[in-house]
Amino acid sequence: MTPRDYDLEPFWMPFTANRQFKAAPRILVSAKDMHYTAEDGRRILDSTAGLWCVNAGHCRDSIVRAIQQQAGSLDFAPTFQMGHPGPFRLAQTIAQLAPADLDHVFFANSGSEAVDTALKIALAYHRARGEGHRTRFIGRERAYHGVGFGGISVGGMTPNRKAFGAMLPGVDHLPHTYDREKIAFTRGQPDWGGHLADDLERIVALHDASNIAAVIVEPVQGSTGVVVPPKGYLEKLRAICDKHGILLIFDEVITGFGRLGKAFAAEYFNVMPDLVTFAKGVTSATVPMGGVIARKHVHDAFMQGPDGIELFHGYTYSGHPLAAAAGEATLALYHEEQLFAHAGNLAGYFEEAAHSLRGLPNVIDIRNIGLMAAIELAPRADKPGARGYEALVRCFEAGLLTRTTGDTLACSPPLIVSKAQIDEIFGTIGKVLRTIE
Ligand SMILES: Cc1ncc(COP(=O)(O)O)c(C=O)c1O
Repeated sequence: MTPRDYDLEPFWMPFTANRQFKAAPRILVSAKDMHYTAEDGRRILDSTAGLWCVNAGHCRDSIVRAIQQQAGSLDFAPTFQMGHPGPFRLAQTIAQLAPADLDHVFFANSGSEAVDTALKIALAYHRARGEGHRTRFIGRERAYHGVGFGGISVGGMTPNRKAFGAMLPGVDHLPHTYDREKIAFTRGQPDWGGHLADDLERIVALHDASNIAAVIVEPVQGSTGVVVPPKGYLEKLRAICDKHGILLIFDEVITGFGRLGKAFAAEYFNVMPDLVTFAKGVTSATVPMGGVIARKHVHDAFMQGPDGIELFHGYTYSGHPLAAAAGEATLALYHEEQLFAHAGNLAGYFEEAAHSLRGLPNVIDIRNIGLMAAIELAPRADKPGARGYEALVRCFEAGLLTRTTGDTLACSPPLIVSKAQIDEIFGTIGKVLRTIE
């Protein structure tokens, strides 16, 4: 191992358990295709596409070249009163990939910004149509929508919310759809739980529909451990939203760009939201980018007013040239290698492999859809999360990158994964689980 030319200790690394991490750091120094290289030179198989985002695999040549060329020709162009070709071209490709009339794209720089943008579009949409009283949002328990104030307000992860005060006013939460007793070891969409969408009617009755702007859900909840929507659930949300003039937002930051074997989960489930958020896979995480795709009727509502700025919202780096170039090259690669179809074709094999871990010590549930799977371990009585963390550490020592939330291991490999690598992923997890008390 070459000695580090930097010091870990004095600098604060966000979003991880700092003391735990710095006591035994896992530092990744390079990556190619399905593998990282750790600082000690070991190759680490990536079973999580980084953080659900490196869908095309690491450091793919065509994406690297596109970013390099862009950096040398146009580094930045103002987005205010100016433009450049990249985001227009990329928006067109995204609109062609997205189903139905989801055909207008607004760019941001992360999933969190995409969520804030979608919530703001929903408010401004109703106002533009003379319904400015529709200001309330409905999120869901166990949801993750990033870390902006909008995202944590509609999100449902207690640790992400509890230190941050009152957040956005006027938010209700649907119940989450996970009940282990009813759905443990389900493959794909559970039969149980569609009725939980009816809770939306209760919330509407409480506030009156005229006060509600939008419902936001992840079609498949990712960060809280792959919670797959019950059969009929998303369809029911759509129907209730339609009945009451409420916008439906799908947060597809994880499910977008092939994770379920289709470009978007909206297509996979055949349920059309009014707004879709995306990030991560749009550039295969090479350059930060996020955004919102709006249906035609949403976009058109903004174009009826007097000339001038239609939506007072945007970021310095919206549609940044490097991100746009990376996005174009990434989407071209998805197309050339037919990676969404590849993911769809492998989903059955992936499911079998994941469920082969049933019966191993402490495994209390396995759930999956597309190329997403969760293996839930029983928590230790005295220390929730400890068993999951130990599994993560041991997998890493055995050459496998996994991800844990609490005691749940989540797998979501790059879409270029092979059957042999799927065997290796679940084979390694199986071996590790046999060694953990
Ligand atoms: C569904 C969902 N929304 C939003 C986000 C936030 O994205 P970012 O971390 O890019 O802000 C995430 C991140 O994992 C996510 O899974």
